[in-house]
Amino acid sequence: MKVAVGPDPSLVYRPDVDPEAAKDKGSFRNYTSGPLLDRVFATYKLMHTQQTVDFVRKKHTQFGGFSYKKMTVLEAVAMLDGLVDESDPDVDFPNSFHAFQTAEGIRKAHPDKDWFHLVGLLHDLGKVLVLAGEPQWAVVGDTFPVGCRPQASVVFCDSTFQDNPDLQDPRYSTEFGMYQPHCGLENVLMSWGHDEYMYQMMKFNKFSLPPEAFYMIRFHSFYPWHTGGDYWQLCSEQDLAMLPWVQEFNKFDLYTKCPGLPDVDELRPYYQGLIDKYCPGVLSW
Ligand SMILES: [Fe+2]
Ligand SMILES: [Fe+2]
Repeated sequence: MKVAVGPDPSLVYRPDVDPEAAKDKGSFRNYTSGPLLDRVFATYKLMHTQQTVDFVRKKHTQFGGFSYKKMTVLEAVAMLDGLVDESDPDVDFPNSFHAFQTAEGIRKAHPDKDWFHLVGLLHDLGKVLVLAGEPQWAVVGDTFPVGCRPQASVVFCDSTFQDNPDLQDPRYSTEFGMYQPHCGLENVLMSWGHDEYMYQMMKFNKFSLPPEAFYMIRFHSFYPWHTGGDYWQLCSEQDLAMLPWVQEFNKFDLYTKCPGLPDVDELRPYYQGLIDKYCPGVLSW
C-alpha cells in the first residue's frame, strides 16, 4: 500500500540556508515559490495552530504505551516504503532509501562509530505515525518548544501562530512561558512529531545506544535551535555539549538525498548486525 504524504517540510523549506551553499550540495532544496511552498506553508499553518501544550500531552498519552504495533527495526524500515512522496521530484524513491543513505553517509565519515551508523537508519522511523493515521503536521516538519513564545527562527513564525490558543494564554505566551531559564531541553515539551515519538520508543524498548544517539534522534528536526541559534535560554550545559552531535548528524540527513540509490540487499546484513547488538528482536511501537 502506498500512502501519499507530502514532502517532509523540514527538507523542502529552509529559509535560513544560504542558497549558494545549498546549491553546492545539489539543487534539491531550491523551493522558494510555487505550489510546493504553498503546501509547506499550509502544513506549518496547521502545525503552528494546533500544536499546543494540551495537544502534545495528549499525544504522549496516546502513543506512550507503545501498543500500536509489534515489529522489528527492519520491518519498520520496510514499512516506510509505503511512504512515497508523490509531489517532490527529489524523493521519487521509497522513503526507506533515505534511512540507508543517511546511515551509509555517516558510516563513510565515521567508520569507527557503529552506533552512529545505526542512528542514520533509525532517525526517521517515527514516521510510521503517518501509517497509524496521524496527520502530516503532527509527524513531520521542524519542531519547536510548546509552552512558551515561539522564537524568530521558527519557520513562518510571524504568519502562522495567530490562531494558536496557547499564545492567548499568559502561562504559555511569554519568552520563558512555563519554563525556568536554562532548565535543559530534556525538561522542555517539544511539538509532537517523529523525533519525540522515536526517542520515547527507543527508551521504552531500552535501546542500548549511547546518550548522544538518543539525543540526536530526539532533536534532529529542532532547526530553530540547532541551525537557527534560538532557544539558548532554555538550554543546559549538557544541551550545549550535545549540540555538535546534532549538527554533525544533520549534515548527513540533509545532503544524502542523492540519486545513487543504495543496494539495500547488500547492506542489510551489516545493519542487521547493528540491530542485533543495540536493539534486537520484535519491538513495541
Ligand atoms: Fe526526520
Ligand atoms: Fe531524515
